[in-house]
Amino acid sequence: MTTILGIETSCDETAAAVVDDGRDVRSSIVSSQVDLHARYGGVVPEIAGRAHEALITPVVAEALVEAGAADSDIDVVAATCGPGLVGSLLVGVAAAKALALVWDVPYIGINHHEAHLYAALLDEHDAEVQFPLVTLLVSGGHTMLISFEGHGRYRLLGATRDDAAGEAFDKVARYLGLGYPGGPIIDRLASEGDPTAVPLTRAMLDDGYDFSFSGIKTAVINWVRAHPDVATADVAASFQACVTDVLTHKARKAAREISAAGICLAGGVAANSALRERTLDICMEDGINAYLPSRAMCTDNAAMIAATAWYRLASDGPSDLDGGADPNLRIDFLN
Ligand code: KG4
Ligand code: ZN
Repeated sequence: MTTILGIETSCDETAAAVVDDGRDVRSSIVSSQVDLHARYGGVVPEIAGRAHEALITPVVAEALVEAGAADSDIDVVAATCGPGLVGSLLVGVAAAKALALVWDVPYIGINHHEAHLYAALLDEHDAEVQFPLVTLLVSGGHTMLISFEGHGRYRLLGATRDDAAGEAFDKVARYLGLGYPGGPIIDRLASEGDPTAVPLTRAMLDDGYDFSFSGIKTAVINWVRAHPDVATADVAASFQACVTDVLTHKARKAAREISAAGICLAGGVAANSALRERTLDICMEDGINAYLPSRAMCTDNAAMIAATAWYRLASDGPSDLDGGADPNLRIDFLN
């Protein structure tokens, strides 16, 4: 058995987790800084870096205690080394390397996006996951449609040409005066609204696998300006339905094209109720598997870092202790 301590500090969550053999989550601690950034309507990098510095030691300690793990039980230390805010990434990377040195165990740097792909599989207790899978990686910073062909083998099918899906949720919520982060607030409000109330064009629906969310956001804003009396819940529901339709339509098309064994959702927006429901319906209709990570595994966490590390270690071995953080790190796609 390999016990991995994972550390995640790429954005505004300080997280640590202990995971056995890439699957068995013994602890997963996430300390969110959302309250620190909410008044600014977005993440302030300087504030995030300082908060990670203050939180990293207690969060790691809590992960070890909750897992019932002694220092000597940890076989590997993994940390997100990119992409993300450089000042935040460095805190996690430095902490992981220091622990690896002190405990005399390997260190491995993990790509945050690749880890989101594995988060979808973490709650799967079946011994074998069937590939290929189509993964919709939808977060605050990225929107990618990926063919997940096997461990470590990814092909990029499409991406957003402008705003990320989560960014569109956050911007629409900000315009509507709903607060930050916007996704969960719109999700809640949408359950009381009419998804057909505001007519919105499904952008680029039959136009390959790329996405565009900036136009949808602008269309929502223009509609609200022209119809100031429209119920906010109706706007939220219509916007959410539009984004969900576009995302799931393309995921379904891709799954059929590559004869996928299933569709995975990953990233913060994968917590969205309408997106989850629609994905489940599609997979049921098409007779394929739906991999929907628990909401805690959709948003940033360290269990997904430790799980990915287990697979990466088997294929690539540990990282060099000289390796730093790369704020623009990309997944090494096959295409
Ligand atoms: O993956 P994540 O935690 O952070 C990164 O961007 O890496 O994603 C955060 C994004 C935010 O834009 C937030 O508004 C969105 O995920 N989000 C949601 C929901 N929960 C979080 N969007 C729609 N519905 C939700 N329930
Ligand atoms: Zn993320």
